[in-house]
Amino acid sequence: MAKSKSQFFCRNCGTQSTQWMGRCPSCGEWNSFEEEVIVRAEAPKGKSSITLSQSAPRCIDDISLMEIPRLHTGYCEFDNVLGGGIVAGSIILLGGEPGIGKSTLLLQMALAMRQQKVLYISGEESDSQLKMRADRLSDGKVHPHCYVLTETITQEIFKRIDTLKPDLIIVDSIQTLQSNLIDSAAGSISQIKECTAEFQHYCKTSAVPVCLIGHITKEGSLAGPKILEHIVDTVLQFEGDQHYGYRIVRCIKNRFGSTAELGIFEMRANGLVEVKNPSEIFVSQRDEIFSGSAIATILEGNRPIMIETQALVSSAVYGTPQRGSAGYDLRRLNMLLAVLEKRCQFRLGAKDVFLNIAGGLHVEDPAINLAIVAAILSSATDIAIDTKTCFSGEMGLNGEVRAVPRIEQRIAEADKLGFSRMFLSKYNLKGIQTQNYKVQLITIAKIEEMFGMLFE
Ligand code: TYD
Ligand code: MG
Repeated sequence: MAKSKSQFFCRNCGTQSTQWMGRCPSCGEWNSFEEEVIVRAEAPKGKSSITLSQSAPRCIDDISLMEIPRLHTGYCEFDNVLGGGIVAGSIILLGGEPGIGKSTLLLQMALAMRQQKVLYISGEESDSQLKMRADRLSDGKVHPHCYVLTETITQEIFKRIDTLKPDLIIVDSIQTLQSNLIDSAAGSISQIKECTAEFQHYCKTSAVPVCLIGHITKEGSLAGPKILEHIVDTVLQFEGDQHYGYRIVRCIKNRFGSTAELGIFEMRANGLVEVKNPSEIFVSQRDEIFSGSAIATILEGNRPIMIETQALVSSAVYGTPQRGSAGYDLRRLNMLLAVLEKRCQFRLGAKDVFLNIAGGLHVEDPAINLAIVAAILSSATDIAIDTKTCFSGEMGLNGEVRAVPRIEQRIAEADKLGFSRMFLSKYNLKGIQTQNYKVQLITIAKIEEMFGMLFE
């Protein structure tokens, strides 16, 4: 007879326990334990449902390294994020908020891979819904190698896989799958763990790569357990602002490449389109120049991007001045304002300050500081900065302008896009061949110097 037992799992990190606990001992989250009744089908004694292949210890020098074969997805942006394509036998998890475009991205990829047999397993949409979406995405081209399967029981899925023998499997989503070996509901932590483990076992024994789609929770972590992130080889995060068309695929973990790469897409009426030159999008195109706007050269992953920062400074109407920020941390904005008050006689207490980063991007790179400060000062003095000037530098609490990493890449990007001058830290120029660039490099050590050059 099948044994039934109840277990408690931490919603946050997947820690398992036989009893309820108020606080998870591993991740420290309060009130995160949930009870799940697990009925495990009897597995033969001494064997778990997942058996590892026979392997014996080998000396590391004896292992011959073959070139790892990679599947190309038809989208350079996606291939780059993965480090050059999908590695055979790897398991990839793509996380993202609902409606961000995960299903669209992977279905488009399945349709674009014309040389490979791709199986798209969906537990969320019906065959006809998938067909409708595919028609919209591919303008009526034929795809003899793209198969869809709407099934959620993993044992059934593996039977189909055995007969079809696909080159790539896409699962939309891991939260809808269910294994017969476990009797808890689909989407519960024990089901997610079991289904992922079954797919992992399949990947490693058959060398067929699998892409799993995973939902994320309101807090932004992958729904279900962190433990999934440990099992899979690559974790990708699909993010973007619902109100803007831009979507970024970021790599959080990659066993076969660096995590510094990222891919940028734009959501259009007929699906996702690769954005090869992001700088042109994040800088608004206009003829007139306004005060309160400055262009920063930031790094997203490995990529330099020119991005417009806009500030609005006005006299405070109410007793307490208002501060608002979209796309940048509000506390850091307050810090920059305090430095400005001290260094540039910017009367902080009497002004409302609002900041906006163009394109709905959230910027973490501190190199944006200098552009933010320039935009604020430009709005406060009502003197516009010309559109051929850009900024890249971090500001310290004493108003000193600090060097930022990978300055050569940033200068090259500004140069390529035809900027005529760039403000950067004096300490950033060591060992740089300035004559290679047409852009004029203006180096400053303190913020007051920039104020003098731009606004006086
Ligand atoms: P979807 O891939 O269903 O999101 P997810 O699987 O992450 O939940 O994408 C949903 C959104 O994308 C939907 O709100 C509409 C938009 N969309 C387009 O703008 N154009 C398109 O061609 C498609 C297919 C979707
Ligand atoms: Mg979906």
